[in-house]
Amino acid sequence: MATIYLIGFMGSGKSSTGKRLAKKLNYNFIDLDKLIESDYQTTIADVFKERGEREFRNIEHNTLKKIIGRPNTIIACGGGTPCFFDNIELMNNSGITIYLKLSAKTLCERLLESKNPRPLIVDKSKAELEKFVSDLLDKREDFYHKASYIVKGKTMNLKALQEFLSDKI
Ligand code: S3P
Repeated sequence: MATIYLIGFMGSGKSSTGKRLAKKLNYNFIDLDKLIESDYQTTIADVFKERGEREFRNIEHNTLKKIIGRPNTIIACGGGTPCFFDNIELMNNSGITIYLKLSAKTLCERLLESKNPRPLIVDKSKAELEKFVSDLLDKREDFYHKASYIVKGKTMNLKALQEFLSDKI
């Protein structure tokens, strides 16, 4: 009946892992960015463009609070969610947080292949992206490491994750 929050950098697989894990555990699945888009009838890219990052973080915080602690639910957060306000504490106090940890190199490879338009990295060259990811990951890991559990590796082993969670949920 727990709430499971998946956190990690852009491109770490929070949404795809979350959807698959939810199916296996028979949990509901919520993608925080998608919820914002449907609540505000817009896209994340447009929120950044029209209202700026600061307002996006307010919206993200308020949307998280709306669903905090929802039972039987896996929530895939945005890459920045745990790093603003007291979001990581809110999540740790109301459920299980799992950090999907990948290296900066792997994240860059995945982001270069991704078709999902991400406002923070749009228009960056490969070299710029590599520097950006490495610098931002360095800053964000302090927050990501507050997670209850850390799962490392490129291929998220769902079975292992499921077994690992079995005595915790
Ligand atoms: C962001 C990550 C994005 C989205 C927004 C900001 C970030 O989510 O919330 O573009 O600050 O890292 P994903 O991690 O799902 O790409």
